[in-house]
Amino acid sequence: MTREVKSVAVLGGGTMGLGIAAASADAGADVLLLDVTMEAAEASLDRMKNIRPPAFEDPASADRIKLGSFQDDLALIADYDWICEAIIENLETKRDLFAKLEPLRRDGSVVSTNTSGIPLKDISEGMPERLRKDIVVTHFFNPVKIMRLMELIPGADTTEDVTTALADFCANKLGKGVVYAKDTVNFIGNRIGCFFMLSGLHKARAALHAGMPMEKVDALLSRPVGLPPTGLYGLIDLIGLDIMDLVGKNLEVNLPAGDVGLGFTKFPPEEQAMLERGQLGRKAKGGFYRLNIAEDGTKSKEIFDLTSQSWRPQEAVELTAEQQNTETVFFADHAEGQLVWDVMGGTLLYAADLVPEIADDVVNIDRAMRWGFGWGKGPFELLDQLNPTKVIAKLEADGKELPAMLKVLKDAGAESFYRNEGAEYLTLSGTWEAVPAE
Ligand SMILES: NC(=O)c1ccc[n+]([C@@H]2O[C@H](COP(=O)([O-])OP(=O)(O)OC[C@H]3O[C@@H](n4cnc5c(N)ncnc54)[C@H](O)[C@@H]3O)[C@@H](O)[C@H]2O)c1
Repeated sequence: MTREVKSVAVLGGGTMGLGIAAASADAGADVLLLDVTMEAAEASLDRMKNIRPPAFEDPASADRIKLGSFQDDLALIADYDWICEAIIENLETKRDLFAKLEPLRRDGSVVSTNTSGIPLKDISEGMPERLRKDIVVTHFFNPVKIMRLMELIPGADTTEDVTTALADFCANKLGKGVVYAKDTVNFIGNRIGCFFMLSGLHKARAALHAGMPMEKVDALLSRPVGLPPTGLYGLIDLIGLDIMDLVGKNLEVNLPAGDVGLGFTKFPPEEQAMLERGQLGRKAKGGFYRLNIAEDGTKSKEIFDLTSQSWRPQEAVELTAEQQNTETVFFADHAEGQLVWDVMGGTLLYAADLVPEIADDVVNIDRAMRWGFGWGKGPFELLDQLNPTKVIAKLEADGKELPAMLKVLKDAGAESFYRNEGAEYLTLSGTWEAVPAE
């Protein structure tokens, strides 16, 4: 069967639902937006129109959105091709809604759930066969309009025409960068991105105790390694320590036994204390950084020094040319090099051990990190820049085991994960395949 998405029923008009509804309407699709009450749906449309940055490309797209409530209007989903669930992150609430909607949708429609962390197998377990074949996870990033990444996760029973229809709509109509992930905890982007953050907090501690200022940690873990300027602490401020705490708790329960990430699911004591006193980040007007406004109105940036446990003015940091150079800083024999190798290098090695667990190939992982976390290069592209042979030599000299994909590379006698100017990539079986168009 070939399926095509031309109309979308979005269930839940919160942050994600309103973003998906607005983007779909902008793409010319007819949209139905249902929420707990008609008033909630109306309020959602109102937010779409007034939110900053605007949810709509074209304000006239709002006219393509029909509103309703779950209670009175669920049967209307029979007229729509894609039933897109975007309600609260609660397994039973989601399952309840799927049980109600399944008899009401038409044959040939496709279904998706927007979950950040609930396994699809738990959502679809025991559901009718038609639903198990027609459902995927569509993991959009917030804000939907801006973030390019959309992770598409089929379940064990999902048929290929469902995945193809949604990939086609999301890539070609919504302009998303579609990445194929597996039904594993946090999928691709958040699995690797959260490992960077949570392991980073623990690993950077040693550097801080040895006297490295936090500003320098952020300066090293940003441009020199191809990451956005927020670095480590700035990124966690943006996300919020409360969210990171929930992520850690979810990882603790759902990471597979033996996963390196299990060592970093809890905050170090200093960050735990910050969480407990509500020092959560930007949304709480202060986390690791804050903007201090003096009585005379003068603004200054302050940093919460984790070693002294007190606020102080943020200092400018100078990195040497060697510390700014990606190819040298990872291997440099000084505290700065050690930090980069431990935190960023550790993240690259973690990613290199996750094929085929979270994705079938290096391309999907690289794209997820570029499109979802703003990395200049994905982990395997960055390993290529560092020279995988050099990384292998360092690991072997340190008596460390090689992560899966570095082992594949070594056994295949390859020198990089991409060749032919990025046109081909190294597969898990050590052969070369063409990189699909972005
Ligand atoms: N916000 C993000 O950054 C983000 C990113 C990726 C995925 N997600 C996931 O997307 C989903 C929606 O998240 P969100 O941020 O839009 O949430 P939100 O809190 O902004 O919106 C939740 C929606 O669910 C509705 N709702 C509340 N209680 C309900 C109930 N008992 N039954 C049915 N509907 C109910 C609300 O009215 C609202 O429309 C969640 O599963 C979340 O984990 C969120």
